[in-house]
Order: sequence, then C-alpha cells, then structure tokens
Amino acid sequence: MWFHFPAYVICILCAACCSSMPESFPEGLPFNLKLESCNFEHVLSWQAGTDPNVTAHYRVLYADHSRNWMIAQNCSYIEHLSCNLTEDLKNLSVPYRVFVWSFVGTKEFNSSTLDFVPLTDTCLGPPEVNISSCLNCINVTVKLPTSHLRNNEKPVSLIDIYKNIDYYITLKTFDREHKEICSANSSIVL
Ligand SMILES: *[C@@H]1O[C@H](CO)[C@@H](O)[C@H](O)[C@H]1NC(C)=O
Ligand SMILES: *[C@@H]1O[C@H](CO)[C@@H](O)[C@H](O)[C@H]1NC(C)=O
Ligand SMILES: *[C@@H]1O[C@H](CO)[C@@H](O)[C@H](O)[C@H]1NC(C)=O
Ligand SMILES: *[C@@H]1O[C@H](CO)[C@@H](O)[C@H](O)[C@H]1NC(C)=O
Ligand SMILES: *[C@@H]1O[C@H](CO)[C@@H](O)[C@H](O)[C@H]1NC(C)=O
Ligand SMILES: *[C@@H]1O[C@H](CO)[C@@H](O)[C@H](O)[C@H]1NC(C)=O
Ligand SMILES: *[C@@H]1O[C@H](CO)[C@@H](O)[C@H](O)[C@H]1NC(C)=O
Ligand SMILES: *[C@@H]1O[C@H](CO)[C@@H](O)[C@H](O)[C@H]1NC(C)=O
Repeated sequence: MWFHFPAYVICILCAACCSSMPESFPEGLPFNLKLESCNFEHVLSWQAGTDPNVTAHYRVLYADHSRNWMIAQNCSYIEHLSCNLTEDLKNLSVPYRVFVWSFVGTKEFNSSTLDFVPLTDTCLGPPEVNISSCLNCINVTVKLPTSHLRNNEKPVSLIDIYKNIDYYITLKTFDREHKEICSANSSIVL
C-alpha cells in the first residue's frame, strides 16, 4: 500500500493540472498585452494560444475618457499579434484604455484591458550626441530624438511638448569629475 499511494496522488495532480489548462487560457484568447512606447511611437503587442489549423483574427479597440470604444485605424481584422497605435492614441494627456478582441472560427474572446497615458507612459530618447575636439576643449552637441507625434500632419517636437529638456553631461578625468547641464540642441564646451 505504501508504495502505491504516492504514485496515485501524483497521477491525480497531473490529471487535474492538465484538464484545467484549457479553461484558464482558451485558444484564441489574447493575453499579456504590452504597449511599447518611445518618443510617442506606440506599438501594442500580445500573445495568444493558437490552433495552427484555424486562422485567428484580431481587432484592437481603444477608448478615451468618453469610454466609447473605437477601432484602431489599421487593426480592425488583422492576423499578426501587434498593432501600431501611434496615429490612434494622439491626445497627449488622455488616459486611454486598450484591449484586443479575437475571432477564432465561430468563437470570440476579449482580452483584459490595458491603461495608457501618452505623456507619462512614453519613454524619451536616446538623444543624438556629437563630440568634437577643439583647442584644449571638448565640444559636445546634443540633439533631441525625433518625436512621432503629429498634429494635423505637422510633426510636433519634444520641445513643443515639454517646453524645456535638459541633459546632464559628466566629464570624468583621472583627478576630477565635472558636471554640466546642457539644454537640447545646444553645444557645450568643456
Ligand atoms: C490540424 O489538422 C491536422 C490534419 O488535418 C490534424 O492531424 C491535427 O491534429 C490538427 N491539429 C489540431 C491542433 O487540431
Ligand atoms: C508606427 O506608425 C508611425 C506613424 O504612422 C510611424 O512613424 C512608425 O514608423 C510606425 N512604427 C512601426 C513600428 O511600424
Ligand atoms: C496604416 O497602414 C498604412 C500602410 O502600411 C500606412 O501607410 C498608414 O500610415 C497606417 N495608418 C496608421 C494609422 O497607422
Ligand atoms: C485632448 O484631451 C483634452 C483633455 O481631455 C481635451 O480638452 C482636448 O480637446 C483633446 N484634444 C483632442 C485633439 O482630441
Ligand atoms: C468584446 O467586446 C466587444 C466591444 O465591447 C463586444 O461587442 C463583444 O460582445 C465582446 N465579446 C466578448 C466575447 O466578450
Ligand atoms: C561646437 O559644435 C557646434 C556644432 O557642431 C558648433 O556650432 C560650435 O561652433 C562648436 N563650438 C566650438 C567652441 O567649437
Ligand atoms: C553630428 O555630425 C554629423 C556629421 O558632421 C552630422 O551629420 C549630424 O547632424 C551631427 N549631429 C548633431 C546632433 O549635431
Ligand atoms: C532643435 O533643432 C530642430 C531641428 O534640428 C528644430 O526644429 C527645433 O526647433 C530646435 N529646438 C530648439 C529648442 O532649439
């Protein structure tokens, strides 16, 4: 009896585990939504358990504070697992909510939602830096990265958005450390 008991328990656990898998992640349910955003370029991606024999289609919906769901311009019925939302989430300060609706054969699923505020959730950078030498000095020029934000087709720069952006430049030599604040687009001579 003692020898059979553990094997019996393991068998039950295994069966319970395997049979509960499909319920927690039905095939075609989009999950693990990620919105990667830098310099106001917003790209949503997700994962989905898929049956290779059935083509799944996805629709990305988003809402602003009015909570009217809108379909993302280029993602109304797509097969790939990502969507460029740069042109959709273009109001800087609005708290957006996003989710993915999937169509697999005759079944439909909705992912959980993801919240996103462009102004605070986008990352900035990296800047373009030029370093040149001059007589007894180093000339460092910092240029801001290009923003993907547009207002009526016109590009909106990061300066238009944040008004003022400063960088810290640190010069380290054997015997000293020198720190300067440099504003965007400008040159600094160390
Ligand atoms: C997909 O179709 C093939 C051939 O029709 C079949 O052998 C296979 O089991 C199917 N796969 C799934 C996950 O249904
Ligand atoms: C996303 O769309 C924006 C605006 O149309 C474009 O500038 C950017 O290159 C696109 N990014 C990707 C990864 O497709
Ligand atoms: C939709 O896709 C087309 C073609 O790839 C592209 O030119 C356009 O900028 C995209 N629109 C949006 C809103 O991303
Ligand atoms: C962006 O959102 C702000 C605040 O909610 C609103 O006042 C403004 O009209 C919106 N702008 C656009 C272009 O939708
Ligand atoms: C998914 O969301 C859409 C839009 O809100 C709704 O019309 C649809 O019934 C939902 N589908 C499911 C399976 O919950
Ligand atoms: C530093 O570089 C900038 C951009 O190349 C240039 O306009 C500026 O004159 C340079 N300054 C010095 C002191 O060389
Ligand atoms: C850096 O120098 C290169 C070559 O001179 C130039 O094309 C580029 O615009 C410069 N970038 C900055 C940030 O000054
Ligand atoms: C920085 O340079 C770009 C073009 O290189 C220009 O459009 C922008 O207005 C400049 N910003 C500042 C703060 O001078």
